[in-house]
Amino acid sequence: MTDTSHSPAAEMTHERLLIVDFGSQVTQLIARRLRELNVYCEIHPYQLVTDAFLAEFAPKAVILSGGPDSVTRDGSPRAPESLWSAGLPVLGICYGQQVMMEQLGGKVEGGKISGGGGTAEFGRAFVKPEGSIDLLNGWFTDGDEQVWMSHGDHVSKLAPGFDVYGTSPNAPYAITADLDRNFYAVQFHPEVHHTPKGATLYENFVKMAGFSGDWTMGAYREQAIAAIREQVGDAKVICGLSGGVDSSVAAVLIHEAIGDQLTCVFVDHGLLRQGEAEEVVTMFRDNYNMPLIHADEQELFLGKLDGQDDPETKRKIIGKLFIDVFQKHATAVGDAKFLAQGTLYPDVIESVSFSGGPSVTIKSHHNVGGLPEKMGLKLVEPLRELFKDEVRALGRELGLPASFIGRHPFPGPGLAIRCPGEITRPKLEILRKADAVYIDQIRKHGLYDDIWQAFVAILPVRTVGVMGDGRTYDFACALRAVTSVDGMTADYYPFSHEFLGETATRIINEVEGINRVTYDITSKPPGTIEWE
Ligand code: XMP
Repeated sequence: MTDTSHSPAAEMTHERLLIVDFGSQVTQLIARRLRELNVYCEIHPYQLVTDAFLAEFAPKAVILSGGPDSVTRDGSPRAPESLWSAGLPVLGICYGQQVMMEQLGGKVEGGKISGGGGTAEFGRAFVKPEGSIDLLNGWFTDGDEQVWMSHGDHVSKLAPGFDVYGTSPNAPYAITADLDRNFYAVQFHPEVHHTPKGATLYENFVKMAGFSGDWTMGAYREQAIAAIREQVGDAKVICGLSGGVDSSVAAVLIHEAIGDQLTCVFVDHGLLRQGEAEEVVTMFRDNYNMPLIHADEQELFLGKLDGQDDPETKRKIIGKLFIDVFQKHATAVGDAKFLAQGTLYPDVIESVSFSGGPSVTIKSHHNVGGLPEKMGLKLVEPLRELFKDEVRALGRELGLPASFIGRHPFPGPGLAIRCPGEITRPKLEILRKADAVYIDQIRKHGLYDDIWQAFVAILPVRTVGVMGDGRTYDFACALRAVTSVDGMTADYYPFSHEFLGETATRIINEVEGINRVTYDITSKPPGTIEWE
């Protein structure tokens, strides 16, 4: 994954912790726990962590993640040999513990999953102390500690130099350490919510490893700016601005670094929400005095979408037009050499596939991928080390208004995917009005920040109603509101009946063209968040 050559963090002097990823589902959570402790860390897949990589990365400590494989299998993943003589503190978790034992002279036995006779263990377990070490400061104060286990194999013989500091009924080596070499290894997952004191264990580990906690947003901002200046020199940079949090924060940061060398392009495809174009353009042009092209391409997009009702066709048309338009306006900027993108760290990590298998295309997501190659541009991605909440923190640090930072995500294809079936201008107008009333209701009830995303979808169906003494035959709409952490899974938001009733009444009274309101109570999976 990791071309860090142009990443701000790669240029930084932060103390760095390396997480070697053996493919656990929860490796990202280790990074989250460490970032919360102001420790800068990067996740790298084990295949790329060679002896040379380790020497170049120069971490102050290393964590070996869990993983799905069995160390008893020939050819299963290992840590680089030089790790064991590097003099670095190492913490092994689950598979990471087993790798440590195997490579350092202990023994691991297969559990049910890998065909051995040992006991697999999944879920809650309680660990008993066996002596005390600094790693466990703050643990066992109220008796045994709850931890989360998820392992098939288990360690059956410790490597020389290791002792046991905690046991659970099915894991006699739940907590082990070689104190002389600063090697620690646990069978459970301290990074997950169900190990309530897991964060304390990480805190103790990084304290012992001598981290000073120098990863702050203020420091990141300064160093990211220096790195952008160094990367870009006096060349021009263009940035596709959607008004979403990521591209907004990236644009403001880059503008702070290189001023008018940056030009942003905001494409109005006619599928934006009520007042959105004015809001975004005013904010950037007036408040930041940033060169901004407001590309009004409504005719082009709506023209090409005319008569199209297939979701994938609609998405593909929009994606292609977006690239055409962007290219046209980028040319006008002159000899831009760089394209700025608000790529986040989870996108970078997710681009590594352990299985190597292609995943099924559920939807053709719209982004500007492929654009840099076509246009011969290099990428500037100043957020590629950050998680979403860190981007928000950086946005606050840069003085972006809170209303912008807390905005719900809005998809690239915009209202097109909230208007199942054919898109028409009258339908879009109705949708905009209904959406504005719905969001107003949510804000008035103080619920906006509790919700990941909320919107109205206008349904391709008319229903009969009665208003006053007359018959109506208007569109039905669906309200959608979900809670989510990352958009990958989601649950519907449990509005009260009073709220739903009041909102339906307002929409039907205030929006001409809608006479029926429904609430979508589908979670993801099996549904998706958007309707198309
Ligand atoms: P789904 O509908 O796939 O949406 O559950 C998950 C999240 O992604 C957003 N989304 C998109 N964002 N381009 C984007 O930039 C797209 O094509 C796109 N499709 C869905 C959606 O709003 C939700 O936050």
